[in-house]
Order: sequence, then C-alpha cells, then structure tokens
Amino acid sequence: MGSTCVVGLQWGDEAKGKIVDLLTRDHDFVVRYNGGANAGHTVVRDGKTYKLSLLPTGILSPNLCAVIGNGVVVNPVRFLEEVKNLRAAGIAIGDNLVVSDHAHLIFPYHVEEERLSEHDSGQTIGTTGRGIGPCYQDKVNRSNGIRVGELLHPDHLRQRLRFIVPRKNTIHKALAAGAKLFNADALCDEYLGYAEHMRPHITNTTVLLHKALREKKRLLFEGAQGSLLDVDHGSYPFVTSSSSSTTGIWSGSGVPARNLTRIIGVIKAYATRVGRGPFPTELDDGPAGLGERIRQKGREFGTVTGRPRRCGWFDAVAVRHTASLGGVDELAVMLLDVLSVVDDVKICTGYEMDGKKVDFFPGDSFLLEKCRPVYETMPGWKVDIAGARKLTDLPATARRYLDRLGELIGLPVTIVSVGPDREQTILGRESAR
Ligand code: IMP
Repeated sequence: MGSTCVVGLQWGDEAKGKIVDLLTRDHDFVVRYNGGANAGHTVVRDGKTYKLSLLPTGILSPNLCAVIGNGVVVNPVRFLEEVKNLRAAGIAIGDNLVVSDHAHLIFPYHVEEERLSEHDSGQTIGTTGRGIGPCYQDKVNRSNGIRVGELLHPDHLRQRLRFIVPRKNTIHKALAAGAKLFNADALCDEYLGYAEHMRPHITNTTVLLHKALREKKRLLFEGAQGSLLDVDHGSYPFVTSSSSSTTGIWSGSGVPARNLTRIIGVIKAYATRVGRGPFPTELDDGPAGLGERIRQKGREFGTVTGRPRRCGWFDAVAVRHTASLGGVDELAVMLLDVLSVVDDVKICTGYEMDGKKVDFFPGDSFLLEKCRPVYETMPGWKVDIAGARKLTDLPATARRYLDRLGELIGLPVTIVSVGPDREQTILGRESAR
C-alpha cells in the first residue's frame, strides 16, 4: 500500500487543491508538510467554493484524517478561524484534524518583523506578510522558536515569552522608530486562550503517521507553494522559507520518502508567479496584452493576498528541473481551458544567457534574471474546451500541446483539468489506478 504526493512544479497556485480533492477517496490521511497560511487553496465542490490556507484541503472529505505536520508553521488565529469557517459551512471537524506538537508557532512579532523587513529595508522579497519567514528563522535559530506543543505548558510558555519578547522589542526598535512592540504576559494569555481550543487537535503526528504506515494506511501528501519557491532548490532568494518541493516531505512529516509510490507533479498549462523575482517567460505586455488576457480568463489573483499574479508562457526548462528534483512520476496539467484566449501558444524550451545556450534552471536569481527564453510556437485552439471530458473531446491542437509538454518534461500527462469543478477533469489511462 503506497503513499501519494501532490506537488506543484512551478511558482505555486497550480490548482493542487483540486487534484488532492480528487484523490481523497483513495486515501486515509492527508498531510501538509511545509509552509503555513501563506498558501491559498481553492476547491470547488458541488458548486460550493472552499478557500483554505493553513488546513490541508483534504479536510473537506470526512473519510480522511487531516494532518498538519511538524514542518508547517502554525498561526493559531488562522487555524481557529479556518476551523470555524468550515464548521459554519457544514464540514465536521473533530478528531479528523491533528496538528503536530513539533510544528512551530507564529506570533504577531513575526508578522511585524516581516513587515519591517519587507517595507523598510529596500530588500523586499514580495512575501505574503503572514510571518512565515521570521517564524522559520526562529525555528532554525532555536533559542527564539516556540512549538505548538509548548502551548500546553502554561508556566513554561510564559517563561519562554518573557525571554523572547524583550529581545524582539529591542530588534524592532532598532529597525524602525514606529515599530510595534509586544508584551510577553499579554501574548502568553492570548495564546493560552487559543491553546484551549487547539488542545484536542495537538499530538505527535510523527508517531501517528508511523503507526498509520504500519497499519498499511494510505497517506496523501499535499505540497503547499510550488517547487520553484523551495528554499534550497528554487529561485533563491525569491523563494519561500520552507522545502516546498517533495524534498520537504521526509523532514516535514517524519515519513521516509521511500513510502511514496506515486508523485503527481501539478503544472498549469502556462505559468504564473506572485511576488518579486525573475520570471523568464513573463508576458509583461500591458493592459491589452496576452498576459492580462490570461490573468482575466484564469482569474489569476492571489487567494491569500488578492495580488494580481504575473502571467507567462509555460517554462519547460524550469519544470524539467522541478520534476526531476521531485522524483515526479506523472503530470497533471491544469487550467488548459484558459489558453483558449490565445491564437498561438508558446513553450520555453531553453534559455540564452550572455549569448550562450542554457538548458538547465540556474537556482540563483541574479543568473536567472539574465536568461532569455527560447520559444517554440504551436497553433492554439481558440475554442471553449471547458466541456471536454475525455482526451478525444479536445481539439487536435490542444492534444498536440499536451503531448509536447509531456515530451519536453519526459513524463506522461495523466490528468488534464479544463475548469474548476471536479467534473471538468480528463483522466488519462494511468490515473485510473
Ligand atoms: P512567503 O512565503 O510569504 O515568505 O513569501 C515568499 C514568496 O513566496 C513570495 O514571492 C510569495 O508571493 C510566494 N508565495 C508564498 N506562498 C505562496 C503560494 O501559496 N502561492 C504562490 N506564491 C506563494
């Protein structure tokens, strides 16, 4: 009995939530292993739209236990807000939701630290402003990190905050005159209040998942963000602070990678990016340009921040890198219907840097910045394909485009999505297993 992973191979927002939702019936656990409430997952089910940020999207299926692994950073306010919203929407939340006692806690001083570094430093990354980076910094720094399990030990938590908060205040004051300052005891009281609501969900999820593996349960790993935002393997420093490729699964959940028998790499039929950083295939062609047409048709605005996403052509160099890095078995191509708005479609098959051909993804932004895309152009389909339910319903030009993507990445395309609803999905032969 194997485990599955759904991972984004671009800069996030690849519509992974829909694929996770399709797979839930074949699994017993759904596990998030990285990131926090910086992620935005939208799932449309029976005409109802659910937006999730911190909780795994698999929580929408009552048969699954949803796990927030140790590699995630947890803001209790967001956690409790999402639980409340889901309950209000009729989704039962009880012991089907667990959070690792080893996951790190986000505090308001993390959000302030990020605000100061993003707005007052001139060295901005274009982050989501959720305190993700500063929380991971404290995790690695160790003396300032606080984990979810510590919420259940009031005296210990107070002692820790009385040590950390004055240090944070000193740093904030040094960074900006009007910086927000915090009171350790007030923060402790606030978080102890959250602890009471979170208590039933807090557990050692590594022990839980190891037991599940022994009992031959099927695990589904849900990646957040995309592999090009991976802190080690993405377009550094314009990345997130966690291991958002499949490399994060082992450390972020405690489950050895050898348990993964199916790794589905999710890609959009084009590319998007939010925040700053190089994007070789970006269509930065103004309000009447193709980039804007794709943005409007694909509703490419951030789930978390509402920021317009930068849009561009599919980059096969970047995805070859992330597919290979992630040990990906097969591809799910999302939002193919969006490309109906263009006459011809382009795929980036290589880069040119300083007059030389480059066929790999340079992991440094200052080098990626210099890469010019080399395109292959194919005829578009220019018809609405949202009603297609099998490959043969698609125009020959769209099928050729899918074949070419698979060929360039070297993997089979087993799932094609032509709209947000579950039904708007074409399953290839292999994905029926
Ligand atoms: P952070 O994760 O908030 O620190 O942001 C770092 C970078 O990752 C920024 O460019 C964000 O826009 C990007 N990012 C973070 N989460 C997501 C996501 O879920 N989708 C797309 N981009 C994201």
